[in-house]
Amino acid sequence: MNRDEARLRELGLWPAHGLLVSRTAVPAPSPEAKLATGPGVGAYDWPALDAAIRSCTACGLCRTRIQAVPGAGSRQARLLVVGEAPGADEDQRGEPFVGRAGQLLEQMLLAIGVRREQAFIANVLKCRPPENRDPAPDEMAACRPFLDRQIALLQPRVILALGSCAAKALLGGEGRVGSLRGQEHEHAGTPVVVSYHPAYLLRNTADKSKAWEDLCRLRALLTQDAKSADAGSTG
Ligand code: URA
Repeated sequence: MNRDEARLRELGLWPAHGLLVSRTAVPAPSPEAKLATGPGVGAYDWPALDAAIRSCTACGLCRTRIQAVPGAGSRQARLLVVGEAPGADEDQRGEPFVGRAGQLLEQMLLAIGVRREQAFIANVLKCRPPENRDPAPDEMAACRPFLDRQIALLQPRVILALGSCAAKALLGGEGRVGSLRGQEHEHAGTPVVVSYHPAYLLRNTADKSKAWEDLCRLRALLTQDAKSADAGSTG
């Protein structure tokens, strides 16, 4: 057992099982999503985008949040991690995934050799739903241009969608993680790995071995992308 595997055993993510393959279609972005925050978002640079997110009043969550949580990490990241929405800790600190689920996410990424600051981490919703309830469709539509613009600016090579809300936002449809994970997906040409949300894994430890399979898939995609980039730069 190598060091990564030993770390995964500590997390309860080891042992892993085999990987599966199939394909799903890319959904069209929803037109009404553009309305809530106006046509300008699609032209924003990072600072303008962050400022627009922090001052957004496009849905009712602006009245209950402490602060909006735009996202954090490297703006050169090859990996984009998308979660659902800020929780209480994130609402307090203004950063995504800083609570218990965030600690598990960090360990999961580290297990495949990715430090948190090497990725860009964002959520479908930038503001906390009260009592951590599920995001409402109108909130997801209102927030959508922000995630779209983050993806356009970052141009990630691989996206990790954590939980069904992120999968729905990126892939469309109503699929559950259990049926979407283990398959090949794309969002606008970028490979998407669907996996369980770390908050779910904290409650459902039996599914950690499946999450490890998903991490292996993610690592393989990142490795493959790095090799292609190397091959491209050496001609
Ligand atoms: N859960 C999420 O989906 N996002 C966060 O930022 C924190 C917890």
